[in-house]
Amino acid sequence: MDKLLTKAQETHNLSKSEIIELLNSDGSDLFYLADEIREKYVGNEVHLRGLIEFSNICKCTCKYCGIRCSNKKIQRYRMLPDDIINLAGKAYDTGFKTVVLQSGEDSYYTRNVMCDIIKEIKKLDIALTLSIGERSYEDYKAFKDAGADRYLLRIETTDRNLYKTLHPNMDFDNRLRCLKDLKSLGYETGTGCLVGLPGQSIESLADDIIFFKSMNADMIGLGPFLPHPQTPLKDCAAGSFDLALKVMAITRLLLPDINIPATTAMETINPDGRLIALKSGANVFMPNVTDRVYTSKYEIYPNKSGIDATQNDIISEIEQKLQTIGRMVSYTKGCRKQI
Ligand code: 5AD
Repeated sequence: MDKLLTKAQETHNLSKSEIIELLNSDGSDLFYLADEIREKYVGNEVHLRGLIEFSNICKCTCKYCGIRCSNKKIQRYRMLPDDIINLAGKAYDTGFKTVVLQSGEDSYYTRNVMCDIIKEIKKLDIALTLSIGERSYEDYKAFKDAGADRYLLRIETTDRNLYKTLHPNMDFDNRLRCLKDLKSLGYETGTGCLVGLPGQSIESLADDIIFFKSMNADMIGLGPFLPHPQTPLKDCAAGSFDLALKVMAITRLLLPDINIPATTAMETINPDGRLIALKSGANVFMPNVTDRVYTSKYEIYPNKSGIDATQNDIISEIEQKLQTIGRMVSYTKGCRKQI
């Protein structure tokens, strides 16, 4: 075990069987080392990203997701471009250096509509991340040309069979194509996975980590699977917080300089989840800046927790919370430092 951690510390490389051994370990030494490596490579600053969930309309039917199109019980909403732009402006005024525009796969936001939104927001000195699902190369190129800096698209799982079961009418190879296109277009590209999906093995989680490393992802977001009552997986067990934390910590060992958020799902399953994640390898925090009328409707999973960042003094509040663990808010855009 010590030998494995030393190897990870020195080479930032582990074989699949070594990753599996770490995933099966109790984790405490692993979390400690991930925290050390995080400090050495990306420092004590925590980058804040203001999250705008601008539409919960989605054409996909991912079996775990509460906003899948077949869920007829949720109230759908779609923010107008001007409202999205205004909200981004408000996040900028509050002090955010990055906004993340996230939505379901909603065809209302055509290439042109998105480009207009992006161009308007990029008049501000702010980094812009998109998280709007699978699109064509031409769309991704147009968004990049319009000024988008980053893109998040989780692979969700690298197990092809499991992917197929969980994503009816979707194509694993197209998802890979999207990630390849995003990287080649020069986006800082984020991906990630769900941990504890029904039918997911430890081996396949090790493959997920190896995939993150092989694509040289710039950001990795992950969290435990949380069953949503209005989905086919409603009766399945939730993923484990500890296992998700281990996947995150090992990812930090192998990709020491990337950005890793302490995700909302981590906090939903464990009240101290985000701070624990920040002490086990994470260095990013994504407060929700969407108007409260919408956040309750963006229920990807139940009881989605998280800081309501619509108040003006939110950043100083976060600063105080971070101080308790010896960390501070970053006042830069927080791009990945390439080594
Ligand atoms: N539990 C946890 N995470 C989920 N996501 C979607 N549904 C769930 C769920 N039931 C995650 C997916 C997606 C991200 C936006 O939210 O990984 O990429």
